[in-house]
Amino acid sequence: MARARGRRFRFHRRKLCAVAAYVAILLIALSFFTLIYLSRKGFDGGREHVSPQEDQSGLIPDQELWDAPFSLGLHTCIKPTARYKGARKSDRYITVRSNGGLNQMRTGIADMVAVAHIMNATLVIPQLDRRSFWNDTSTFSDIFDETHFIEALKGDVRVARELPKELESVPHARKHFSSWASTGYYEEMTRLWHEYQVIHVAKSDSRLANNDLPLDIQRLRCRAMYNALRFSPPIEILAKKLIERLRSREGRYIALHLRYEKDMLSFTGCTYGLTEVESKELTILREKTNHWKVKKINSTVQRLGGNCPLTPKEVGIFLRALGYPPSTLIYIAAGEIYGGTAQLSMLSSCFPNLVFKETLATKEELEGFTTHASQTAAIDYIISVESNVFVSSYSGNMARAVEGHRRFLGYRRTITPDRKGLVEVFDRLESGNLREGSSLSDIVRQMHDDRQGAPRKRRGPLPGVKGKARSRTEESFYENPYPECICGPKEAF
Ligand SMILES: *[C@@H]1O[C@H](CO)[C@@H](O)[C@H](O)[C@H]1NC(C)=O
Ligand SMILES: *[C@@H]1O[C@H](CO)[C@@H](O)[C@H](O)[C@H]1NC(C)=O
Ligand SMILES: *[C@@H]1O[C@H](CO)[C@@H](O)[C@H](O)[C@H]1NC(C)=O
Repeated sequence: MARARGRRFRFHRRKLCAVAAYVAILLIALSFFTLIYLSRKGFDGGREHVSPQEDQSGLIPDQELWDAPFSLGLHTCIKPTARYKGARKSDRYITVRSNGGLNQMRTGIADMVAVAHIMNATLVIPQLDRRSFWNDTSTFSDIFDETHFIEALKGDVRVARELPKELESVPHARKHFSSWASTGYYEEMTRLWHEYQVIHVAKSDSRLANNDLPLDIQRLRCRAMYNALRFSPPIEILAKKLIERLRSREGRYIALHLRYEKDMLSFTGCTYGLTEVESKELTILREKTNHWKVKKINSTVQRLGGNCPLTPKEVGIFLRALGYPPSTLIYIAAGEIYGGTAQLSMLSSCFPNLVFKETLATKEELEGFTTHASQTAAIDYIISVESNVFVSSYSGNMARAVEGHRRFLGYRRTITPDRKGLVEVFDRLESGNLREGSSLSDIVRQMHDDRQGAPRKRRGPLPGVKGKARSRTEESFYENPYPECICGPKEAF
């Protein structure tokens, strides 16, 4: 019995040794393979770090390029509060001449709706600017759905298509209302009703402050801007068709507001990358345009300050650095690009999939629109609001209005270039201190981390600025209608 037990024990010991040896061999093999695996992965990672611009599409997660940023469960809230007093019948009239391009007029008209409400007046359908650079003869109903405008505002302000005939000949108060005015200012202006039955407002842009207005006035501005000011049916229909065509090509697209147009370059005095002849032409246009007050501009200073629109070439480098693949479908929302094909080729060399409304629509479809800059701008506006990603090369009225609208509709991805920061980067590229590749991509992506259209409250005035200039430095109400028209998950609509 004892011998048998000892044999069995010896047998067990031998088996244990064999198992241990197996385990050891397995462990060594495993660590060997792990080592090989890790070193290969490291090598691959290294290669990716050398030249990511060759193919960044797999590198940056799709949702970081295309999806709406996280929006914390925020939603729109534009209904009036319980205190709100709606439209009253009024035989006092406000007539308006809207000034500026399409979006300056739109925001101005939305403000005039609020002003008419504050002043207890009936608003007459505004006249549109025919004298701005764009020479557009469109009337209100050519661009907006007039019937819808009147209907949509029924609870807020009475809107008349025309001034009653009998009031045409009575004396009108002609007013240049103060810019960025408060509700108190307009309440004070109601004293004009003692003497007049009609007030004519000569200019509609920025007549109302961005901040510190009653909640109900702010919400009324949103109802006017986002609900009442719908575009006219022909514009809406064509824009929808073009969006469908874009989506059928790639499923998703970037709308690029490439504000590289003659008037903008002339106005800002930005001649970087242009020929001497072109620079001269822009200077002459600026000098002869009366309402542009600043005549002497140093283009270099202007550019370093971040005050110039990005050039088509710069936009190409920018989008590539952000990680958009060369196959990305890009709709160019803009008028005529200054410098034409020569300038554009510097963008299309990085992103050949560029689309213009002229290539997306037939000649017949565009007929009637092309001679009206505000109507084509309206088509661009709709396509931009509906895009997966919106990028603007300059922070003008259109870019601001589209950005605000996209925030309002649920924080659709909207990329606002840090032009001042980018100019430094571009100059380092130019001088050879930096090369396109992973470090450029890292710098540019980091610089734009918080410039993707995620929720944040509207910015107040710049610190240290006093008086009227304060309002000028505030973020525009229509660029970011949060918090008044966008509420938290628990707040009521
Ligand atoms: C508008 O008209 C003026 C004067 O006739 C002209 O100089 C300007 O180029 C026109 N603008 C556009 C965009 O056609
Ligand atoms: C507007 O009309 C209402 C009702 O008639 C009145 O209570 C209010 O004070 C008026 N507002 C102004 C600014 O005149
Ligand atoms: C513009 O400003 C830059 C930088 O301050 C300066 O070097 C250049 O000489 C200026 N150009 C002109 C035309 O004044």
